[in-house]
Amino acid sequence: MKAFVAATVLACASLLPFQQAAAKPIEIKFSHVVAENTPKGQMALKFKELAEAALPGQVEVKVYPNSQLFTDSTVLQAMQLGDVEMAAPALSKFQKYTTKLQLFDLPFLFKDIEAVDRFQQSPEGQKLLKSMEGKLLVGLGYLHNGMKQLTANDPIRTPADISGKKYRIMTSDVLQAQFEAVQAIPLKKPFSEVFTLLQTKAIDGQENTWSNIYSKKFFEVQKYATETNHGLLDYMVVTSSEFWYGLPDDVRNKLKVAMDEAIVYGNKIALEKDSEDRQQIIDSGKTEVIKISAEERQQWVEAMKPVWNMFADEIGADLIGAALEANN
Ligand code: LMR
Repeated sequence: MKAFVAATVLACASLLPFQQAAAKPIEIKFSHVVAENTPKGQMALKFKELAEAALPGQVEVKVYPNSQLFTDSTVLQAMQLGDVEMAAPALSKFQKYTTKLQLFDLPFLFKDIEAVDRFQQSPEGQKLLKSMEGKLLVGLGYLHNGMKQLTANDPIRTPADISGKKYRIMTSDVLQAQFEAVQAIPLKKPFSEVFTLLQTKAIDGQENTWSNIYSKKFFEVQKYATETNHGLLDYMVVTSSEFWYGLPDDVRNKLKVAMDEAIVYGNKIALEKDSEDRQQIIDSGKTEVIKISAEERQQWVEAMKPVWNMFADEIGADLIGAALEANN
């Protein structure tokens, strides 16, 4: 009898860690660099809400905004190491992992966000989500922010006005070439440093969307914003393939549904914020928004478009062709 009791106690004790492990929710750390009142900030929170509602007690999503956990230059490596599960860096920040996504940085490629959408949903666009699986990263979807504008302390209307000025850029060689094409001086710097660099005048300007210029208060330290819409700032929501494919099928499927829905929500916010935050900047009276003429815009197109040829081989003529097709 004694032996039977001892064996039962032992058996129960050995089961305990597994029961506890099964009861513990899967933790998903979602790290990003922007403020919460942005398309990405709102999308991440919506994902948390939907994922936790679909899988009560089974998953816990912890969102870390404002570069609290990782910057965009460290997050992907951290993801490969299993230190963070989700992030949504700008498409300009994947160059180390694939040259294909450089496509999205080509200046004046897409005529508007609808064209971007058509391309991203096309077979070519969807294939790009899987272009980094060899590097243990898998794309779950694209998220919009919007088109980029140029800010400065001088009124910038034509490429000649930007010559010799120091501009902060994301870590992208295409963006570097784009600014060199107009004789500006591009500096690759993390998003978390941009405000201070502008405030201390270590740089003259930067390129970004209305929502980032507004939410990070760049407009408070820049006198002008020129509405060029010269390039795109969109995101890829990524996760580690080891984490993602290691999830039970039903959990992965429900998380994907939650992510798809959160992205639809984030894209709606992106559209709204693009015009709302532009207006907030105008209303602040701190930054003058400069609208350029069609002739002035054409000067930017002519100066920057030769950059396409420099990267056509790395990106692939087929991809550039498919992107242009989406403009029709
Ligand atoms: C930037 O670095 O300017 C952007 O990528 C920030 C962001 O995530 O929108």
